[in-house]
Amino acid sequence: MREQLQNIKTQAEEFLKKISSISELEDFRVKFLGKKGELTQVLRQMGSLSPEERPQIGQLANEIREYLEEKIDEAKKALTQKMREEKIKSEVIDVTMPGKKIKTANLHPLTQVMQEIEDIFIGMGFEIAEGPDIEYTSYNFDLLNIPKDHPSRDEQDTFYINDDILLRTQTSPVQIRVMKSQKPPIRVIAPGRVFRSDAVDATHSPLFHQIEGLVVDKGITMGDLKGTLEVFVKSIYGEDAKVRFRPHHFPFTEPSAEVDVSCFVCGGKGCSVCKGEGWIEILGCGMVHPKVLENCGIDSEVYSGFAFGLGLERVVMRRFNVDDLRLFFENDIRFLKQF
Ligand code: DAH
Repeated sequence: MREQLQNIKTQAEEFLKKISSISELEDFRVKFLGKKGELTQVLRQMGSLSPEERPQIGQLANEIREYLEEKIDEAKKALTQKMREEKIKSEVIDVTMPGKKIKTANLHPLTQVMQEIEDIFIGMGFEIAEGPDIEYTSYNFDLLNIPKDHPSRDEQDTFYINDDILLRTQTSPVQIRVMKSQKPPIRVIAPGRVFRSDAVDATHSPLFHQIEGLVVDKGITMGDLKGTLEVFVKSIYGEDAKVRFRPHHFPFTEPSAEVDVSCFVCGGKGCSVCKGEGWIEILGCGMVHPKVLENCGIDSEVYSGFAFGLGLERVVMRRFNVDDLRLFFENDIRFLKQF
C-alpha cells in the first residue's frame, strides 16, 4: 500500500507538469483528491491493514494529500499569473500607431443655412411656425387674396391633389394658419418645403425651400419691415451689404416690394454673378394686405403687419458657389461631404 501511495504521488507529479489551464487543474484535483479520487480509493482499503501499519500509512497518505494540495495551490497561482500576463500582453496599445480617422457626418448645406437664418430671426424675437406641405387651396391662394384667375393657380404650375387640396406652392399659407390661431402680437418665421410643377434644370426644381416671415401688431410700419430685413441681410451677407427695396406687386401685401442686396462678388460694380446689375434679388415682401388680415379675423383698423418670403436655395447656391441646384437633391455623398 505504501508503494501504491508512492505511485500515486509520482503519477500526480507527472500529471501536474502537463497542466496548462485552471480547468485542467480542477480536473486533476478531482482525479487525485476528490471523493472518488485515487488517494481516497487507497485509503478505503486501510481496513485490511494491521493496527501497527494503519497510522503509518495514514500519516503517509495525509502527507501526500497536503503535498498535492500545496502543489495545486502553487500551480493555481502560477497559472493565474500567466493568464494575467497574457491578457495584458494582448491588450497592449501601440500609442505610436497612426489613429483611425472617424468620419463625422455633417448637416446638409440647405439645413446649415436654414438654421443660420432661423438663428438670426430668433435673435430678433421671432418664433418658428410650421405648416403642412399638403395644404388647402383656400389657404394657399384664396385667403391670401390671390385672384381666381391668377396664373400661379394653373395646373401647369401647381400640383393639385383635388380642387381643394394641393402641395403648397409657397410658405405664405403658414401666415394664414398663424393668424387664424394666434392673436397679435405675432412675430414668426415659417421655414419649409414648397412645390411647383417645374421641369428640373440647373436653376429649377419641383421641390425647393422658402422662409416666410410675418409680423402683426399695433402700429407696424414699412420702417419696421425695412429695419428687420436690413438687420437680416447684414447678418447673413456682412455689414457692408447694402439693401435696396424695389416696388413690386404681390396680392397678399400692399404696398409690396422686392429686396435686392448689393452683389457680394463685385460689391455693386457689375459682374457675371449679378449679370452686370450690381444687385441681386433675394426676397419679396410688403405690408400685409388688410383683406388678408380680415380673412383671418384680425381687425385691420387696429392692427397692421409686414410679411416677407425668401427662397433658400438661391442663398445657399451663392454662399457655397454651387451653380447647379440639382446637386442639393441628388444626395451624392461626394458633393455633400464638402460642406
Ligand atoms: N410667396 C411669395 C412667392 O412665393 C414670396 C413672398 C412675397 C412672400 C411677398 C411674402 C411676401 O410673404 O410678402 O413668390
